[in-house]
Amino acid sequence: TLQLTLAVIKPDAVAHPIMSEAVHEKILSNNFLIIRSKELEWKATDSQRFYCEHKGRFFYQRLVEFMSSGPMRAYILAHENAIQLWRDLMGPTKVFRARITASETIRGSLGLTDTRNTTHGSDSVESACREMAFFFPEFSTSQWYQDL
Ligand code: CMP
Repeated sequence: TLQLTLAVIKPDAVAHPIMSEAVHEKILSNNFLIIRSKELEWKATDSQRFYCEHKGRFFYQRLVEFMSSGPMRAYILAHENAIQLWRDLMGPTKVFRARITASETIRGSLGLTDTRNTTHGSDSVESACREMAFFFPEFSTSQWYQDL
């Protein structure tokens, strides 16, 4: 059965069309259904709200600044086991680990630093729900699952 997840191409990759196109290709070649997609740009306050769970971590300030530094592309994707599949395709958060142990993943091949790491993906059903509502407030996930 299909599951929804939120995927985001971050500002570092959107700034370089060759990178964002490579990520888009990954989405298509892994047979995700693109349910919604849009380009958007955050203000610092959006970034702070989205990453409030990381407030106080040493990387919080640079993360907030980076995520409001330019346009992003957000997707609602559907696939069997979509949350885990997208996370596997992204690879580890830390670019050093991604490069060494998962060089064929998105972050392993395109990630620049632990902050500028190309993509985001929800890590659980609960965060997917929250994050889809954050990026696509007009989209009803419960309605979508009902209509399946
Ligand atoms: P993301 O999957 O969007 O979730 C939280 C983000 O915080 C993460 O990707 C990185 O961009 C950033 N992040 C996580 N850990 C670190 C770290 N150790 N150093 C810098 N940035 C980090």
